[in-house]
Amino acid sequence: MLLFTGKGGVGKTSVAAATALRCADSGLRTLVLSTDSAHSLSDAFDTHLDGRPRPVCEGLWGQQLDATERLEDAWGDIQDYLRDLFGWAGVDSLEAEELSVLPGLEEVFALADIKGHADSGDWDVVVVDCAPTAETIRLLSLPEILAWYMDRVFPVERRVLQAVRPILRHLTSIPVAGDHVFAAARRLYDGLEGVRDLLTDGERSTIRLVVNPEKIVIAEARRTATYLSLFGYRVDAVVANRLLPEAITDPWFKSWKEAHAEHLATIEEGFAPLPVLKAELATDELVGLDRLRDFAGVVYGDLDPTGILHRGEPLRVEARDDALVLRLELPFADRDDLDVGRRDGELLVRVGPHRRAIMLPDSLRRRQVVGATMVSSWLEVSFAEATAEPVGGMV
Ligand SMILES: Nc1ncnc2c1ncn2[C@@H]1O[C@H](COP(=O)(O)OP(=O)(O)O)[C@@H](O)[C@H]1O
Ligand SMILES: [Mg+2]
Repeated sequence: MLLFTGKGGVGKTSVAAATALRCADSGLRTLVLSTDSAHSLSDAFDTHLDGRPRPVCEGLWGQQLDATERLEDAWGDIQDYLRDLFGWAGVDSLEAEELSVLPGLEEVFALADIKGHADSGDWDVVVVDCAPTAETIRLLSLPEILAWYMDRVFPVERRVLQAVRPILRHLTSIPVAGDHVFAAARRLYDGLEGVRDLLTDGERSTIRLVVNPEKIVIAEARRTATYLSLFGYRVDAVVANRLLPEAITDPWFKSWKEAHAEHLATIEEGFAPLPVLKAELATDELVGLDRLRDFAGVVYGDLDPTGILHRGEPLRVEARDDALVLRLELPFADRDDLDVGRRDGELLVRVGPHRRAIMLPDSLRRRQVVGATMVSSWLEVSFAEATAEPVGGMV
């Protein structure tokens, strides 16, 4: 599974479409699907696409996930409950309607669909044209957050509710979630099970970041790289798109070319050891199979687009002297914007607005955290043998 993300307009759809076409041309059964609500996949192929996989050409199928269409089926029960609840709380009906559509929910369905395709055995390659970075990160952090919620909060909340529901019903008019609400949430969760395993499996999935030689675009890509790594996702390449062509020698473009060269150097140095695939600005828009085929040639040259172009290991444990060191790759992370904490069997890591609770492996669980530091792009957390248990009775 190949996922492409980047800032809006950098060329995600073009690169994803071109990649998929190249895969199909090499004889692989390929599905390209977009999770971006600004569906431009059909524009790129210049053909009609919708919520079901549709043939584009020999070996290639395309789909534009329409999550809202599926929202009602799976979420209807929960949504009805939320609507009642907001209504009860005095929120007017229009607002309650809006509030009951939880942000990020559509992406949950996109994930479930992607997983379904990956498991179906129908495809050799699934190419995902993702939404712009912020939404993609939200999308990719969902399984983790949802799993955490379902595992801890849900059973407790449920037990409590089962106990108080009759009383609540009796005493107040507050709408109480019925079993069908929990069942709907459970179905949703079950559908997502394994999504994270699939997406973080470096042999099965990889993410490619598309950038342009522009300061803001690069800054966003760096943040994306940090957050993806925080959540255990692997990036295997950067695609630098829209570079000014070598052929342009017009002095008017001189300073643009210099700026691009400088930005390209920043990209290559900053993202090393990731390979940087390069694509020049074409003479016109990349629409239609022929143009996309040429574009794929420019981006990949002789490279196999389905190959893992870089193998990293975002999380690993190393023995060092007496300590075990958990190393988490957080490229570009700013140490001032980083928190590390410990709670029972988990290590809590926050970078900027994103948090992850990392389940500690058994080897670390009984140890104590004795230090945390950033060493170039790695967060290193040292664990020492726990001091002896306090002797009973000596309080
Ligand atoms: N290297 C390129 N040369 C010329 N046009 C490009 C190039 N890359 C992208 N485009 C064009 O720029 C527009 C936006 O690209 P698109 O792939 O839709 O970006 P995104 O999916 O990131 O929003 C499209 O019209 C596309 O054809
Ligand atoms: Mg797009």
